[in-house]
Amino acid sequence: MQSKIIEIKNKAIEEISEVKTKEEIFDLEKKYLGRNSEFNQILKNLKNLSEEEKKEIGKSANLAKKEIEDNLKKYERIISESNFDFQSEKIDITIPGKRKKRGHLNILSQVRNEIEDIFTGMGFEVADGPEVETEHYNFDALNIPKDHPARDEWDTFWIKPEEKLDHMLLRTHTSPVQIRYMEKNEPPFRIISPGKCFRREATDSTHEHTFYQFEALVVGEDVSVANFKYIGEQFFSKFFNKDIKVRLRPSFFPFVEPGFEFDISCLMCSGKGCRACKNNGWLELGGAGMVNQNVFVASGYPRNKYQGFAWGFGLERLAMMKYKISDIRLFHSGDLRFIKQF
Ligand code: PHE
Repeated sequence: MQSKIIEIKNKAIEEISEVKTKEEIFDLEKKYLGRNSEFNQILKNLKNLSEEEKKEIGKSANLAKKEIEDNLKKYERIISESNFDFQSEKIDITIPGKRKKRGHLNILSQVRNEIEDIFTGMGFEVADGPEVETEHYNFDALNIPKDHPARDEWDTFWIKPEEKLDHMLLRTHTSPVQIRYMEKNEPPFRIISPGKCFRREATDSTHEHTFYQFEALVVGEDVSVANFKYIGEQFFSKFFNKDIKVRLRPSFFPFVEPGFEFDISCLMCSGKGCRACKNNGWLELGGAGMVNQNVFVASGYPRNKYQGFAWGFGLERLAMMKYKISDIRLFHSGDLRFIKQF
C-alpha cells in the first residue's frame, strides 16, 4: 500500500511539472485529489485495515496529498507569472530621462539680492519692516503731520480703521523702516531696507500700485552730503558695471532737509545726451536728502546731535534700466514668457 501511495504521488508530481495551462492544473487536481481519484479509493478502504495500518497508511496518504497540493499551487503560480504581460510593462532603460523642471528666482528677487550684496560689501546691514503700517510710522514720525499737503503725494490704501488701533495703511514707501530701526538702534550705523510698497494710483508703463523700493539710511555724528554722493556713485557703478556719476537736484520731502532728486549719468551715452535720456544726459532715480532733525527726534534721538542721509529708490526702475525692460507692469503680471527671460 505504501509503495502504491508513493508511486501515485511521484506520477502526479511528474505530470504537474509538465503543465502548460491553468486548465491542465485543474484537470490534474481532479485526477489526483478528486472524489474518484486513486487516493480517495485508498482512503475509503482504510476502514478495512487494522488500527496499526490505518494510522500508518492514513499518515503517509495525507503527506502525499499535501505534497501534490503544494506542487499544484506552485505550478499555478508559475503559469500566472509567465502569462504576465512583460511587453507592456517593460522599462526601456535606453530612453533618455525626462528633465525635471525647476523654478528660479524672479528677476526682482535677483536684483534685490544683487543690491543687498553690494551694500553688505560696503558694511551696510539689511533692515526690515512690515508692509501693513501705522499712520504714525508711514507719515507722522516722518514729519508729515495729519493735514500736511505733502501727504497727497502718497496715494494711500487705507485699511478700515479698527477701534483702539492706530490708523492702518499699506505702506507707501520704505521710509517707515528708518523710524523703526532708529527706535531700536544707536548711531553710527548704515542700513538698507528693500521691500514692497503700495500706492493707489492709475497704472501705466512706469507706474504700478505694488512695487519695490529700497531705502538707504546712514547716520552718525559727521555724515555729510559728500559721503552720500560717494556711496551712491560706488553703488551704481557696481550695479551697472560702469562708471556712473551722480547728480543731486534740490527737491522737497518733509523727512529730509535739504532734500534732493537723485540722478545718475545716462547708461547709454554716459552724460553726453542721447535718445534714452531725452538728450539731457541724466536719468532720474528717486528721492534723497539729509535726515530732518524732526525725524531724529520722533525716533528718540536728541536734536542736532546726529546727521544722516537717506534715499528711497524704486527697485523695478533699476531693474528696468539694467535689463532694458520697457513696462513696469510686466514684473507682477505673472507672465512666464517674461519671467523665463531672466
Ligand atoms: N520715501 C520717499 C518716496 O517714496 C523717497 C525718499 C526716501 C526721499 C528717503 C528722501 C529720502 O517718495
